[in-house]
Amino acid sequence: MAEFTLPANSIVKTGKSFPAPDGAKRTKRFKIYRWDPDSGENPRTDTYEVDLDSCGPMVLDAIIKIKNEVDATLTFRRSCREGICGSCAMNIDGTNTLACTKGIEDIKADVTIYPLPHMPVIKDLVPDLTQFFAQYASIKPWMRTQSPHRADGENLQSKEDRAKLDGLYECILCACCSTSCPSYWWNSDRYLGPAILLQAYRWIADSRDEDTGDRLDDLEDPFRLYRCHTIMNCTKTCPKHLNPAKAIAEVKKLLVTRSL
Ligand code: SF4
Ligand code: SF4
Ligand code: FES
Repeated sequence: MAEFTLPANSIVKTGKSFPAPDGAKRTKRFKIYRWDPDSGENPRTDTYEVDLDSCGPMVLDAIIKIKNEVDATLTFRRSCREGICGSCAMNIDGTNTLACTKGIEDIKADVTIYPLPHMPVIKDLVPDLTQFFAQYASIKPWMRTQSPHRADGENLQSKEDRAKLDGLYECILCACCSTSCPSYWWNSDRYLGPAILLQAYRWIADSRDEDTGDRLDDLEDPFRLYRCHTIMNCTKTCPKHLNPAKAIAEVKKLLVTRSL
């Protein structure tokens, strides 16, 4: 049997510790993954003790405080700070979620923070999402119509048809679900993963879109769609409480019914 050796840079070492400021009474330890590809060194976890009495309530508040006051080299993405942009997705306390909506008080022990799993890391908590967004572009995520545009520019939809998009349009493409999916971990080059499949279904379910047949043809593939084995990690982890596994099941159902 071939011997398997872990690549040297996959070993995460214990890094530096930064104590809380003198006089801090209510503190919490944040153990954060650090890796700088330019350093030539292994990844490490640095520990920062944060004074909660001078920190906002969310994990993102603590990370921003660390960057502003303790260690300016800490690298992460964030923008809206209210669960809308999806850019602060990371693995916190063992679960993929949004740092800006995850309360520090919800975590009883030390707070461990890693980048989204099974993605190439650009630096520290920043994963490389190039392939994820290329897969998103591959489903042509815009309304495709053949009918001529109405003169008034409106493309109307009944209230009932609009309601069919609930639970789909709210997806912020944070990638928490796809990076929690074992099938995506092992086949992300060919399997679209739950986030992109939910987005694909969002257009299939839209009564105004007229390319349903082509959209289904594009998904009918042993890898792009059928690598989903209904493990449900995606639905469990979604910070927007959406159900990508159900959206995938709806696509599979449509493929079965159209072939009858
Ligand atoms: S379905 Fe949820 S977890 Fe997945 S990308 Fe959309 S918002 Fe994020
Ligand atoms: S239900 Fe499908 S998409 Fe969701 S985690 Fe499981 S295999 Fe992945
Ligand atoms: S900063 Fe936008 S979702 Fe967290």
